[in-house]
This record gives sequence, structure tokens and C-alpha cells, in this order.
Amino acid sequence: MTPFIQCRRALKSSLVAVALSTTVSLYAPLVYADDAEDAVRELKAEVAAVVLANRTPEQITTQVGVTLRAFLARGALPEAFVKAHPGLPVTTYLLHAEPDGRFSIAVLVLRPGARAPLHDHRTWTVWGTIRGTDHEKQFERGASGEDDFPELRPISDRRVEVGEVSVVAMPPRDVHYVENVGNDVSVSVHVHGADLSRIERNRYDFERRTVFPFVQSYESGGEQ
Ligand SMILES: [Fe+2]
Repeated sequence: MTPFIQCRRALKSSLVAVALSTTVSLYAPLVYADDAEDAVRELKAEVAAVVLANRTPEQITTQVGVTLRAFLARGALPEAFVKAHPGLPVTTYLLHAEPDGRFSIAVLVLRPGARAPLHDHRTWTVWGTIRGTDHEKQFERGASGEDDFPELRPISDRRVEVGEVSVVAMPPRDVHYVENVGNDVSVSVHVHGADLSRIERNRYDFERRTVFPFVQSYESGGEQ
């Protein structure tokens, strides 16, 4: 590594340290693009290795959690993936989809007060916050009633701060929502055990007791 790169990485580390020790509103800009691209490339490779080397969703999510926590600690995401889309409270970018569909990585950008609606995943999920403060509530899906709306039992309710990760289990414990409870835009990274653009999932509207099937789409951020 050249002294120049070492210097930049040292500066990056100090920026992250400052960010982690101050309030969210003082959070430093994300680091240089070349470091961010390195970090994303390493995240993809490490998740791929974890998925290949482990058999059960529990083993995979435990290891992906370790990998994702290390990625979040670097504080590095390309700038194209951290901006809220104009006019949208919720922006979802595709960071990577493995060609064989074994996993995908998305970035969720929430404006203050915005919530990604209650939804299921149909697979395992590990996600964590890289900027701002999120809140997550998870549910277990039970039997459907006469109106076809399922029983949704709360199973966890927590804040997710910068650097923290959360695991969403396999069905039927695969339902959650994520909302931004901070004063600034929040950015989180979500690793899923499938290419979500290829599978149908559901959104759930508690108040109307309605289930909305959907297939994930993404805003353009430029896949890595
Ligand atoms: Fe989700």
C-alpha cells in the first residue's frame, strides 16, 4: 500500500471514529469512493464465501452478521447509493445480486420519519445501519383469518444504531418494517438470501387488513 493510500485510510478511520463518537446530525460524509468500492467488493466476496461454506440459515446469518458489522464499521458506501431519491420517502438501491440468485445486497435510504412498509422476505435477511438511526419491528406470520389477512405476532422491537446489525429469520418469522427515527436521512445495508427481484413477496397493511403481493424493484444507483 502506498503512503498516500495509507494516509487516506488513516483519515478515513479518524472520520469514522469522530462520526461514531458524536451525534447523528454530525455524522461525517462517507469516505472516498475508491475505499467504498473496495469495501463493497470485499463485502460481496465475503458474503459469497459465507453462503458457500455454511448449510443452515442460522449459520449463514450468524456469519453474515459478523461480515456486515465489519463492513458497517468502515462507513464506506459509494455516494450513488446514499442519496434519497427526489420526491421519494423510501429509496431502495441494488448494490449487488449474485447471478445464481443465492443472495443480494440492497441499500435502503429513508428520509426522516419515513418507513419501509411492513413486508416479508421469504428468505433470511441480515441488515444494519450505516448512517442515521433506524427502528425495526419484527413479526411472526400465523394463520390467515376469514379475510385472508394473517395473524402477525410481534417478536422484536428495537432501535438499530450506526454499526449495529439485525437478523430477520426464515419464514414464518420473516416479517418486519424499518423506519427512520432520527433527524437526518438514514442509510442501511440489507443482505438477503435470494435475488428479491426474482421472487414474489407480500406487503401487509394492518389498518386495512390487506395483503399486497409485490416483486422488488430498485432505483438506479449503478450496481457494483
Ligand atoms: Fe426487509
